[in-house]
Amino acid sequence: MDWSVYKAFWEKYLQETAGTETLLSNDPKRMKGRHAYATLATLLRYVEIEHLRDMRVVDYGCGTGRLARLIAPFCRHLILVDVSVEALRECQRRFGHLSHVEYRLADGSDWVIPEAVDYVYSYAALIYFSDADSFWRTIEGIDRRADAFAIHLHNAIHEAPHMTAYPGAIKELHTAKFYRPSPATLLDRYPSAPAGRYMVEWHEPDVRGQDPFFYKMSQALSAITPGDGPSLQCTRGRLDKFLCREAERWYANGDSSRALDLLLELAGAGTESWEIYNNLGVIAFDRSNVDLAITCLKAAVSKGHPTEAVSNLEAVYRSLGREPEDRLVAKPQ
Ligand SMILES: C[S@@+](CC[C@H](N)C(=O)[O-])C[C@H]1O[C@@H](n2cnc3c(N)ncnc32)[C@H](O)[C@@H]1O
Repeated sequence: MDWSVYKAFWEKYLQETAGTETLLSNDPKRMKGRHAYATLATLLRYVEIEHLRDMRVVDYGCGTGRLARLIAPFCRHLILVDVSVEALRECQRRFGHLSHVEYRLADGSDWVIPEAVDYVYSYAALIYFSDADSFWRTIEGIDRRADAFAIHLHNAIHEAPHMTAYPGAIKELHTAKFYRPSPATLLDRYPSAPAGRYMVEWHEPDVRGQDPFFYKMSQALSAITPGDGPSLQCTRGRLDKFLCREAERWYANGDSSRALDLLLELAGAGTESWEIYNNLGVIAFDRSNVDLAITCLKAAVSKGHPTEAVSNLEAVYRSLGREPEDRLVAKPQ
C-alpha cells in the first residue's frame, strides 16, 4: 500500500473540513446532540466512569476533536493521535488551553503507542485501512499498550466521507482493496477474546439499528460476550449522572457559565436525568431567568416527580407570589 497517497488523502480532506467542525458529519445531533453522547457512552462502556479522572486515554484518529471535546475535560491525560497534521493543528487550536492534552502524528501504517495507557478509543478511523496486516498490527499494538480499548468499525464503505467528497480519491485509495473486517474475521482472529477487551462494534442505534451488518456483528459479539469480558460499566444514564456532578463542581467553584453550557448541551442531547433539568432550573433562577427556571424545573418534575425538583419549582412560584400552577407539583414520589 502506498501510504503517501493515504496520508495525502486525509490531509486534503482535513484541510477542507477542519475549520467547519464537520469532519464526520454536519448533523448537530452527531456533533453535540444525542448521537454524540450515545457514541461517547458506548466508547466508554468498559470504563468505570468515576475513574476517568485518573486515566490516561488515547483518541486514535481524533480528527478535529469532535469526541475529544467531550472527554478532554474529564480525564487525567488525553493523547490525540491522527495521521493528518491539519487534524492535530485544529485540535491544538481548540484544546491548546488544556495542558493535559497532547498531540501525536501517526505514520498512517501501524503507529504504535509507545507507552502504557489506560484506555484507547477510536471512532470511524481504523476502518479506513485498506491493508489487513496494518490493520491488525495497529490493533495488536493498541492491545499491547492499553488496559482496555473500544474500536468503532462501522464498515459501511458507501458512507465513507471521501466517496462523496473525493470521488477521484476513492480510486486512488481503491475501494476494492478496502479492508473490511467482518464479524467472521474478528472471530477468526480472537476466537475466545473477551468482548470489550478487543472489539466494540456498534452504531448509534437509531441511526443504524436495522442495518444487517450491525445486526450480524452484534450477534457475533454476543457469542463471545457472556461472562468472560469486563462487565459493561458506562451507560448514557451513568454518563449523564457523572457529567451532572462535574457541572455541579464547576458551579460550586464559581464557573457557572461552563456548568450551564454543559447542562444545556446535555439537555439538548436528550438526557433523561431529572437532576440535569433541576440543576439547570436552579442556575437559571439564580441568574434571574425565571421563565427558563420554570421550564427546566417542570421538566425535572415530569421526569419522576423528585422531591427536590418539586420544592425548587414551588420556591420559584413562591418568589413570584404565585401559587403553583397545578397540583401536579405538590405530589412528589
Ligand atoms: C472520519 S474521521 C473521524 C474523526 C473522529 N474520530 C470523529 O469521530 O469525529 C477519520 C479520522 O481518522 C484519521 N485516520 C485515518 N487513518 C488513520 C490512521 N491510520 N492512523 C491515525 N489516524 C487515521 C483521519 O485523518 C481522520 O481524521
